[in-house]
Amino acid sequence: MTEMRPLTFLCLASYFKGTTFLEEAKRQGCHVILLTREKLAGEPWPMDSVDERFLMPELNKRPDILHAVSYLARTRVIDRIVPLDDFDVETAAALREHLRVPGMGDTTARFFRDKLAMRTQARDEGILVPEFSRVLNYDELRAFMARVPPPWVLKPRSQAGAMGIKKLYTDEDLWRRLDELGDQQSYFVLEQFVPGDVYHVDSIIWEREVVFAEVHKYRRPPLAVSHEGDVFVSRTLPRDLPEVAELKALNRQLMAALRMVRGVSHTEFIQAEADGRFYFLETAARVGGANLAEMIEAATGLNLWAEWARLEVANARGAAYRLPETRQDYAGILVCLARQEWPDLSYFNDPEVVWRLEKKHHAGLIVAAAGQARVEELLDRYTPRFAADFLAYAPPLEKAPV
Ligand SMILES: Nc1ncnc2c1ncn2[C@@H]1O[C@H](COP(=O)(O)OP(=O)(O)O)[C@@H](O)[C@H]1O
Ligand SMILES: [Mg+2]
Repeated sequence: MTEMRPLTFLCLASYFKGTTFLEEAKRQGCHVILLTREKLAGEPWPMDSVDERFLMPELNKRPDILHAVSYLARTRVIDRIVPLDDFDVETAAALREHLRVPGMGDTTARFFRDKLAMRTQARDEGILVPEFSRVLNYDELRAFMARVPPPWVLKPRSQAGAMGIKKLYTDEDLWRRLDELGDQQSYFVLEQFVPGDVYHVDSIIWEREVVFAEVHKYRRPPLAVSHEGDVFVSRTLPRDLPEVAELKALNRQLMAALRMVRGVSHTEFIQAEADGRFYFLETAARVGGANLAEMIEAATGLNLWAEWARLEVANARGAAYRLPETRQDYAGILVCLARQEWPDLSYFNDPEVVWRLEKKHHAGLIVAAAGQARVEELLDRYTPRFAADFLAYAPPLEKAPV
């Protein structure tokens, strides 16, 4: 019998995140390589779980990244390539294609990163989406504006966190904005602004099957929160609501339409005020940001980062992935920018407070309880206190900082 070589995982991180993935991969016996940016060298990476760390000025520059990783591969057998941040999803796919490493390739990665690609594919597969147009041909844009009543949103095809999104009310607004954008305009998508509540479904996919999904609702749409300045709030929905079943079915349909094979996904839908129907907003092939993973863990006991590592390891070993037992509790999260450097959260001392954010100029906490009503009650009480005691406002960035 030949001795088993440990699996080698190359993890890409353009931002500081995914430490739980690194830890679990190590715990599963992998040789863990972290490739991150020079400016993140000082972050508290869990170095006990990282066998080798390499730094580059940036990870998304081609062909530099292809050359750097191919060089590493001269003396290492890289089994899996994992993007820890959304911006690394395309880079990981390009590297897999170049090295012929299994996993999501360029075409599929595009569906999970490019808002124009995901919209087009979802619509073509019969999923309801807001009316939209690529920003390319001016006759097409004129036809769109004649057909679809404003307001519209013009948004970058590959950003996150509501960055760079502009709400537009007239034809003139669009032409002026396109003038400003110049050659950047084709990297945007124009769509109908659909007023309504925003939901998110966070799921695990194993061999094309959604094996775990939790349905949540933001208290206010993320665009309103970031553009007007408010407390970001989300929570688990009561699991017996009809919309929960509907959103889970939609999520399954969408993952199939976008050809997701295995991994984790954070997917958003808008329930239109006008007709009550769910419109696909966006998806991503990664763990949701803004500490949503901690909220889901508080409700279910399951950590999406750790499960992602476990399922990648299972696949690489040709083994089956088995979802652990989960709890059916409820959780809610509140986060906002704070005026204080270290806001005092001592008022929020109910026993249901299970997690506090430790980040300068931020206030954040997670509550969890066996019943959804108790979570709702705490959020109702805490949200105005957060707004009054801590909330600071900074206008949204145009794009992710480099
Ligand atoms: N077509 C739309 N109609 C209404 N609101 C939208 C639309 N597109 C985006 N938004 C708002 O902007 C927010 C961010 O847009 P989204 O497409 O999710 O990009 P991001 O990657 O920045 O989260 C959404 O949560 C929602 O509040
Ligand atoms: Mg979003």
